[in-house]
Amino acid sequence: MSLVDANSAGFVHGGTVMKLCDEAAGLAAIKHSRRRVVTAGMDRMTFNEPVNIAELVTFKASVNAVWRTSMEVGVRVESEDPRTGVVRHTSTAYLTMVALDDDGRPVGVPALSVDTPDEQRREREAQTRRRNRLAEREELLRHREREA
Ligand SMILES: CC(C)(COP(=O)(O)OP(=O)(O)OC[C@H]1O[C@@H](n2cnc3c(N)ncnc32)[C@H](O)[C@@H]1OP(=O)(O)O)[C@@H](O)C(=O)NCCC(=O)NCCS
Repeated sequence: MSLVDANSAGFVHGGTVMKLCDEAAGLAAIKHSRRRVVTAGMDRMTFNEPVNIAELVTFKASVNAVWRTSMEVGVRVESEDPRTGVVRHTSTAYLTMVALDDDGRPVGVPALSVDTPDEQRREREAQTRRRNRLAEREELLRHREREA
């Protein structure tokens, strides 16, 4: 990360990290679906520690779960001080990407093979995030209907 990415505190802008998470998630989703994709939402973005200017930042994206046309992609962000080799886990993001057909309509995506204990944990946690998101949406809609 270079100086143009810095905020006034001397750290990398959160928005810069978010944008790169979105790009990494998009690529993982394209590779899984072999389709073009759009970002439908970002369920969570944590900033555990700041990223310092001149650190080497790595974005590791994995497709955690797939539904009909959507996929949850998790992105782990790690920052390395190239002078010491110390690597820190600085952010985590979870994004929902939707695959589109050539006419721009949502299209089905291939099933995900979930084999290792890590893959099973990621899938389980992605299902929980989706359930919570949909439950929140239902509740907000119910309140609005009651107030209308
Ligand atoms: C995302 C988008 C394609 C969904 O279109 P839609 O007409 O609502 O389509 P559907 O209702 O069939 O939903 C398609 C899938 O998107 C998911 N989805 C829609 N809105 C969502 C949201 N806000 N968060 C998470 N998932 C969402 C649905 O759950 C569904 O998933 P499923 O098929 O796996 O069950 C559409 O809203 C869109 O194009 N949004 C703009 C995307 C964009 O510009 N992103 C930024 C630049 S990439």
